[in-house]
Amino acid sequence: MGAWPDLTEYHEAVQHPQKAFADPGLKAVTLELDRFGMPKPATGGNAVVYKAKEPGGFLSFKKTWAIRCFLRPISDHAERYDAISKHLRKVRLPYDVNFQFLKQGIQIRSTWFPIVKMQWADGDLMHIHIEKHLRYPASLAALREKWVTLVRHLEAAQVAHGDLQHGNILVRGGSIQLVDYDGMWVPALRGRNATETGHRAYQHPERGGQDYGQEIDRFSALVIYLSLAALERDATLWERFHTGDNLIFVREDFLQLGRSAIWQQLGRIGSAQIDQLAAAVAAMVQRRPMKVSNLDSVLQNLASFKFPTSIPASTPAQRTPPASKSPAVQGDRAAGAMPSWMKRSGYRDHSDD
Ligand SMILES: Nc1ncnc2c1ncn2[C@@H]1O[C@H](COP(=O)(O)OP(=O)(O)O)[C@@H](O)[C@H]1O
Ligand SMILES: [Mg+2]
Repeated sequence: MGAWPDLTEYHEAVQHPQKAFADPGLKAVTLELDRFGMPKPATGGNAVVYKAKEPGGFLSFKKTWAIRCFLRPISDHAERYDAISKHLRKVRLPYDVNFQFLKQGIQIRSTWFPIVKMQWADGDLMHIHIEKHLRYPASLAALREKWVTLVRHLEAAQVAHGDLQHGNILVRGGSIQLVDYDGMWVPALRGRNATETGHRAYQHPERGGQDYGQEIDRFSALVIYLSLAALERDATLWERFHTGDNLIFVREDFLQLGRSAIWQQLGRIGSAQIDQLAAAVAAMVQRRPMKVSNLDSVLQNLASFKFPTSIPASTPAQRTPPASKSPAVQGDRAAGAMPSWMKRSGYRDHSDD
């Protein structure tokens, strides 16, 4: 196999679906184009995703695909996807969309590379949805309630998504769908390492490649819950702390518990519930990543969390291994793969222009 394809090569190839794809349905697709007539991609850093429609007569509404092309190889990719697919079919959650891992996916330089063909999920990415509803605290509260239910269902079904963050969560009307199953954990994958460690703005700062199990979503689930609860009470947090690639926290906040500006601002809300949730996040940072409690249990025991009064300046940072992680488990996924101009131009947001 030659070098792994880069974004430009995928971009070239998808413009000729008949030649690029082996799947009969994909051979016939029309890609969504941008205003310059070029394929309009989205990416979170691990994959580049094209929206494509297959002519389908009566069932055409079901034939809008997300074609995910990978920006790097993933170890035992096919096996993992097989395990994930089997488990999801068994547990039948309402939050995932149908997908197929195609080993002979896309042809580049006469070599086949894998892709995922996935049903397109309509809706807004979570941060866009939140932004649209900042002035409607009741809508944010409804989303927060749905979030609790989703997280509970995932736990009960023994599924962990692995990278819960705005770019992988689509909200449409009252329902939430998750995309990007690369980092998912299901019981058949027990004993393996993670292929990624998730978005930095949502993860326990010490999470590493060996942390891989049912517990990996717990920290991010709590961060999302607290973010929504806080925004319900103080929408100005958005202007101040939303960067375009987070909700309101960034990784540094988990390394500077109680000291970075967000913690002060949360305190100013003057809500006992927000104080307790903030204390719960702080308490979870001080545990090992796989020892974080699940969301339901945190919410049931909220009153027991007190913000740690003395936190050594570099508590979690010191315990984090230096930045010598292998590329396969880098937390800072987007940074390497995507040129900064793409991030600046809102490339990943899939916003309509
Ligand atoms: N099935 C899908 N339906 C709708 N949008 C999708 C789908 N899959 C991916 N996307 C869009 O593409 C973006 C990047 O895809 P993702 O699978 O998250 O790649 P990465 O692994 O790089 O994060 C997502 O943030 C989302 O906007
Ligand atoms: Mg993603």
